[in-house]
Amino acid sequence: MMRAVFFSAMLTLGLCLNAQTKIEVEVDKPLFPVSKNLYGIFFEDINHAGDGGLYAELINNRSFEANRLPEDMYRVGDYIFSKQGFKMYYPQPRELEGWEIETSGNASGKAMQDDANPLNPFNLKSMRVEVSNPDRGGYRIINRGYWGISVVKGEKYKLSIYLRASSSASMQVALRDVKGNWIDSKIINGIPKTWKKYEVTFTAKTTDPQAVFVLAPLTATTYWVDMVSLFPENTFKKRPNGLRADIAQMIADFKPGFLRFPGGCVVEGADYENRIIWKNTIGDISRRLGRWELWGYHNTDGLGFHEFLQFCEDLGCPGMYVINVGMSCQFRRCEVVDSARLQEQINEVLDALEYALGPTTSRWGAERARNGHPQPFNLKYVEIGNENYGPVYQERYNIFYKAIKEKYPQIITIACTDPAMRDPFKAEDLIGIHQPIEVIDEHFYEGLDFFYQGAFRYDSYDRKGPKVYVGEYAVKKWDNTLKGNLEAALAEAAFMTGFERNADIVILSSQAPTLVNANDRTWNPDLIVFNSSQVYGTPSYYGQRMFSTNIPDYAIPVKVENSGHELLEAKSGVGILSFANPQACCRYTDITIQIGGKNYPLEQIIFPTALSKIKQGTVTVGKTDFVDLKFKDDIYQKCSAADWDNYTISLRAIADSIDDLEVFSILFYSTGIDQHYKWVLGRWHRRHFLQWYDRGYEGYFAQAPGNIEAGKWYDIRITVKNKRVYAYLNNELVYAVDVPKRVKPGIYAAAGINADKTVILKVVNATDEAKDIPIVLKGAQLPYGQMSVETLTGNPQDENTFEQPTRIVPQKTIVNIPGSEFNYMFPAHSINVLRITRP
Ligand code: AHR
Repeated sequence: MMRAVFFSAMLTLGLCLNAQTKIEVEVDKPLFPVSKNLYGIFFEDINHAGDGGLYAELINNRSFEANRLPEDMYRVGDYIFSKQGFKMYYPQPRELEGWEIETSGNASGKAMQDDANPLNPFNLKSMRVEVSNPDRGGYRIINRGYWGISVVKGEKYKLSIYLRASSSASMQVALRDVKGNWIDSKIINGIPKTWKKYEVTFTAKTTDPQAVFVLAPLTATTYWVDMVSLFPENTFKKRPNGLRADIAQMIADFKPGFLRFPGGCVVEGADYENRIIWKNTIGDISRRLGRWELWGYHNTDGLGFHEFLQFCEDLGCPGMYVINVGMSCQFRRCEVVDSARLQEQINEVLDALEYALGPTTSRWGAERARNGHPQPFNLKYVEIGNENYGPVYQERYNIFYKAIKEKYPQIITIACTDPAMRDPFKAEDLIGIHQPIEVIDEHFYEGLDFFYQGAFRYDSYDRKGPKVYVGEYAVKKWDNTLKGNLEAALAEAAFMTGFERNADIVILSSQAPTLVNANDRTWNPDLIVFNSSQVYGTPSYYGQRMFSTNIPDYAIPVKVENSGHELLEAKSGVGILSFANPQACCRYTDITIQIGGKNYPLEQIIFPTALSKIKQGTVTVGKTDFVDLKFKDDIYQKCSAADWDNYTISLRAIADSIDDLEVFSILFYSTGIDQHYKWVLGRWHRRHFLQWYDRGYEGYFAQAPGNIEAGKWYDIRITVKNKRVYAYLNNELVYAVDVPKRVKPGIYAAAGINADKTVILKVVNATDEAKDIPIVLKGAQLPYGQMSVETLTGNPQDENTFEQPTRIVPQKTIVNIPGSEFNYMFPAHSINVLRITRP
């Protein structure tokens, strides 16, 4: 919701009142074009982003396949395991997951899953309903959709359903409101013995976000039911098998530079069999297999390869397709396929590209035409793998690059980088790649500091190296509690100013993930939040959108004097030793502490209450435990230490079980659970990380390869001296690094110019003061006379919600300016886009 206000009070003419900060833009020095594809949308079916979200299907478990065990996996209790031994929580779904039985009067019957006479070879299960007494529709099978079926008064809903029955039968199909009143209802008569498809249109008499779909058999017989599909007639652009109009519109309003699909980790799968096989995702929906999503639910694949390409066309942007390279997810105990299966995978990818781009005379181009789209689609980018890394990936990149480029030289390919990479990219990171690298994809889920410091990350990237796609990033708290607030949006916007200032190498970006159904918040934060009937953008969505809808033609030099961005010395903490274990069960023993070169027995320095946590010399820390060993208050005097900057902690540790996230987590330099540094050993089964942690935000400052095995004792030693950390594992030095400085945020800017000489200036004021800043448009030939200013501001912790969806949205202002030098008051905690025009 934009509000146009003439707002000259914000303008301070003449001299600079605030001498500290000044922004100077060189209008007459266009540097390089800024890519019109710079800001894209990342799509992955996580958080019910697709099924139960963007994909407009209203029936949950429409083909009765949702309880199928994931391919190639086995179940033990509530967990499933891949062949590689990766363990995931996935309680067995019910046979008729999503469906419920209701009876009234004397009605009786039974409903169950059945595999006799399947609808087709891809849709193996159906629902069998044995009705002994229908009692005028008193035996009912109902579906509540994905946390409610939303209907709107006057709108039409299209049902398609396959039915058969052992003797000629009738069935009532209906929509009912939450109070039990019919919204609309139809009767299907003459149901035959063999499968028959029926299509019915409902018109909603009332609005209800929690409506239910009802099947009421009217004959005492046995029925079989399959592929029960219900769509609003008004999907986005009225496409059949289409997308939810309100969510798709939020994406369209973003004016994305590209759409990435299908992920994310789902590209790789929890094992190779679990990857997305694009051929299973096209054509008649009743012939789509569906698959288990590693994000914890069955996926219909209804929003498949064709629908993705069609959506790109409807958005007017190119597609970015992410391919599997014969490797499953490397966070999930990767499976690497042999060369025979690799060739199959190469063919699978080339077929997908032929489907998107090939002539109608080709095998897959013809299939595309049969599916209603004879013209090739606009598929411009292919990412070779997702979050793959290491020598095997690099060898695979070479193979896929060559195969793709030989057939489709116009495709722009993208290489993955290690998602744990934090230092600026170096060519040595991908040393095994001998084919060209056109673009690299970097991923960052990080704390605030990373993004503020990241505003300058690309300033020093090698201009002769590959272009950059910042493919996934967001300010994230790893306890998953951050749902998206202004504080996060500010840091991300500061980071994005660095994309535009370095648009000669940063050509693509997409914050991730994009969509979340508020009933399945597997991954927070996201850009667009919805339930069955409502949708809103987080502050990050609006911050991103302000950038994506204001891309200049050329970047121009911008200088922020006295920006206020500072690196602050780390606070030493009070020396609390703690253990925090989000996952594994660990025991820590033989704990000794040496301060200023002297060994202190624990009872001399640790509070008795804390000592009581050490049972027979051992601290046991279970999953999600935090054990805090507090030191006595007089310990500073005793050790004649002003703070904790000269001490060594030694201990032995063992993990009784390992759950892949992180194993040992030892806190030092700490002021408690909210603020500390920590050594995390065995994270994701492959790395040891030194990290800082602040109120849920965290960041790495050193990392080294390594894993921890369950049942083995490890010697661990951490020395802190002169603000440097020395960390030893089994007496070997793993790192010696300075304790990182923390960031005090300031003012960040990017500037550009359009062919019509409109200057686009983006300014992020991440401080907690309004700043009256002089702006100088150097080299302007003629004076500038007016600007439109879009501002996103509020309290840093503010979020949008279903109750207050527009609490943090941009406000638009028109401001007259006296020429090419003027002051502007930037509110505290604000993202601002100034479009400065001639009179
Ligand atoms: O965006 C969520 C996940 O984060 C993606 O699936 C994966 O690529 C990354 O690790």
